[in-house]
Amino acid sequence: MRWGVAGPGEIAAGFAEAMASVADGEIVAVASRSIDRAAAFGDRFGVARRYGDYADLAADPDVDVVYVATPASRHEQDTLAFLEAGKHVLCEKPFAMNAGQARRMADAARARGLFLMEAVWSRFLPAYRALEDVIGSGRIGEPLLVEADFGMRWPMQPEHRLFDPRLGGGALLDLGVYPVQLCSLVLGPVEHVVADGVIGATGVDEQVAAVLRHQGGKLGVVKAAIRTTLACTARIAGTDGSVDLPAFMHCPDAITVTTRPGGAERIDGSYEGNGLRFEIAEVHRCLGQGLAESPLMTLDESVAIASTLDAVRTQVLANATRTAPPVDAQPTRL
Ligand SMILES: NC(=O)c1ccc[n+]([C@@H]2O[C@H](COP(=O)([O-])OP(=O)(O)OC[C@H]3O[C@@H](n4cnc5c(N)ncnc54)[C@H](OP(=O)(O)O)[C@@H]3O)[C@@H](O)[C@H]2O)c1
Repeated sequence: MRWGVAGPGEIAAGFAEAMASVADGEIVAVASRSIDRAAAFGDRFGVARRYGDYADLAADPDVDVVYVATPASRHEQDTLAFLEAGKHVLCEKPFAMNAGQARRMADAARARGLFLMEAVWSRFLPAYRALEDVIGSGRIGEPLLVEADFGMRWPMQPEHRLFDPRLGGGALLDLGVYPVQLCSLVLGPVEHVVADGVIGATGVDEQVAAVLRHQGGKLGVVKAAIRTTLACTARIAGTDGSVDLPAFMHCPDAITVTTRPGGAERIDGSYEGNGLRFEIAEVHRCLGQGLAESPLMTLDESVAIASTLDAVRTQVLANATRTAPPVDAQPTRL
């Protein structure tokens, strides 16, 4: 599979590391807004064709599938451009800035019969596959409540995409998408949301908490933060037991299943190397089998997750105190 990379930033570097361990794929081209940055990425990862314009990557006839690794604010335009050029697309999370964009992306892929998937890499990791097996087997009965959070204290850097609302910054879109996707995976569609949060000095949500009521009266309790470090764990509580995901809940190396007091079973989910290789393998599997969507991360689910994030954001914006948290002179510790 001949890959192109759009946006040679931090996660694209991880993706290139992961690709090095994938037998049936290769990054053959990279695009940046700057030819120098494309060249630096090309030199670092041995990518032959470098473009200083994303449109040139779209026009490259020798690229089968493009990894969109630009900020969330560009996901819709980049994904649509590559689909229009006939490329399959793996688009980084969060899939889009809102559900309307996500729907347009899904519609475009379906109209052209091209593969498109949100790069929720968690879904393809061994621990998440084990989690799905445990839930599917009925070992913990019916899952009723999911608690999940993801938060890290980032230094305040107004120029960084995380703190820039125009680039899709904020805790909810960047980190909150992981707890929300876990709730979606385990509990299904959301039918009601209650949320609150704090908007910081740069205009992005710095911390958010939400209760999601899923169909059938199941609850998801999620938190996300970019100015304080949370436990970054998750617990799925069912009628007959529970499953714990240790930190980091989006990429755990094991899960613990408890079905009776004192009877916890640890299921190993560790892996060698860069975990992004599992989502790459899933793209290859789907394309090899002629699937335009992954059954493990469907476009309908990406649109539904974006709708949930919209509902959370609407309430956060309505409720937020809009005052910056006190300036912390202490050095940042992650
Ligand atoms: N799966 C994961 O674990 C994971 C981890 C981190 C991030 N992500 C996601 O991946 C995406 C990129 O995150 P990142 O951390 O890699 O960001 P990053 O380091 O800032 O890289 C983003 C890249 O996008 C390009 N870009 C195009 N237009 C841009 C603009 N207007 N402003 C800034 N950059 C622009 C930049 O390349 P040029 O300027 O050279 O064109 C830059 O290299 C986000 O959606 C993020 O949520 C996923």
